[in-house]
Amino acid sequence: MTEPAPSRIDDACDSANRRVHVITYGCQMNVYDSRRIVQVLGAQGWVETGDPAMADLVLVNSCSVRDRPEQKILGTLSRLLPLKEAHPGVRFGVCGCVAQQHGQALLDKVPYIDLVFGPDRIADLPAILAATEDGRRESRTTLDAPSDYSFLDVDPSVEPGPTAFLTIMKGCDRFCAYCIVPYVRGRQVSKAADRVLAEVQSLVAGGVREVTLLGQNVNAYGKDRPGEPDFPSLLSRIAAVPGLDRLRFVTSHPADADDRMLDSFGALPVLAESLHLPVQSGSDTVLARMRRGYTAAQYLERLARVRRACPDIALSTDFIVGFPGETDAEFDATLRLVETARFDSMFSFKYSPRPGTLAARTIDDVPEALKAQRLARLQAVQDRITIQRMARYLGREEEVLIEGPSRDTRSGGRGKAILEMQGRTRTNLTVNLPADIPIREARGRLARVRIDEVLVHSLRGTVLAWEAA
Ligand code: 5AD
Ligand code: SF4
Repeated sequence: MTEPAPSRIDDACDSANRRVHVITYGCQMNVYDSRRIVQVLGAQGWVETGDPAMADLVLVNSCSVRDRPEQKILGTLSRLLPLKEAHPGVRFGVCGCVAQQHGQALLDKVPYIDLVFGPDRIADLPAILAATEDGRRESRTTLDAPSDYSFLDVDPSVEPGPTAFLTIMKGCDRFCAYCIVPYVRGRQVSKAADRVLAEVQSLVAGGVREVTLLGQNVNAYGKDRPGEPDFPSLLSRIAAVPGLDRLRFVTSHPADADDRMLDSFGALPVLAESLHLPVQSGSDTVLARMRRGYTAAQYLERLARVRRACPDIALSTDFIVGFPGETDAEFDATLRLVETARFDSMFSFKYSPRPGTLAARTIDDVPEALKAQRLARLQAVQDRITIQRMARYLGREEEVLIEGPSRDTRSGGRGKAILEMQGRTRTNLTVNLPADIPIREARGRLARVRIDEVLVHSLRGTVLAWEAA
């Protein structure tokens, strides 16, 4: 989840345009913010380039949720330093959560960074660039008060394909003990429902077929806007938008995942059959120390409810191992929950203290080697279950939305025909398949596909029928 997402290469550069190269780490919210950065700069005549050597501005959109985020961005930028030496006019910037967290301190510490801006300051980018035109350096990290926050409208023309993210809220009010998000992204602010609907309509009109709604805790959507619809009502309203084929959302908090939300699966045909519901631990005592607001039994009851509503749903989750004070018995409770829940897939992380959070006041007392051992044991259990869950796809017919050339063959040799294409099932699994029509015609179309082979995390199949063009 923390690998940089590829930048879209815009071939439409002409020499008069200035070029920006954006490197994105972290969650979908950062991917979304990077599109907004390209959009704001596009309005000023900038174009995006996939080649940092061509760029006048290199931006690293950073993530501070785990690991050693500062080292990661400094490593990335220092590798690009020769570009600055070759072209002294090139500016380096850091944005995203690390920028928000460290602000001016990044400029003080790292001489080759020219600009730093937080997630609430994307709209200020033209002013920041004007201020740093002549070699001056600038940091802007003010977080807007919820009442002042204004979302940037999504522009379908900067979306890279038939799928798009759409932010419906920013920030988070939950303050889980380990999590830095409420500090770097601020308090929860929901976007007005009418605006969300207008944006979905404009994405669909621009050719987008699948929309993923984004927020740190989408289930709490609307709670900060009295009179606005809540999340299940928002889903119903979006489901009525003509032309939208698939709707997804991330991320959900189990304590806010109410029955109406869970029952939407199965009830709203547009809602694709996958749900990411982070549990973090299977131990009630760890969950209490994490301040998650539910027990393991309540979590499992949420899973049972959504499976009753939609039996084939693909369920994924997040775990943190080695939270302060985690005992062997508490970790065993996590393993038991994994056996019971039978997730389709899982992301799991070693706990790392984040400055300023509640948990960081407690000693990080689980030794690194034990965290690594627990992570490996947890992943081994899930790997076995994933293989069992994946087996059900063999021989099945799936609806696949074709996104483009397959990753394996995309870069294969200049001028060579790319024969493999890639798409996703409604359960959000990647399918690679031979291209029986030119990929540019296939892109953005739905196909009925027979699954011929099940791999560890992806499928292979053959097109049985195309939807009418
Ligand atoms: N240490 C380890 N993992 C973390 N996550 C969030 N904060 C931390 C932390 N301090 C994980 C959680 C969350 C996912 C996005 O990142 O599992 O769901
Ligand atoms: Fe962090 Fe908890 Fe908010 Fe998720 S719900 S962003 S884990 S504070």
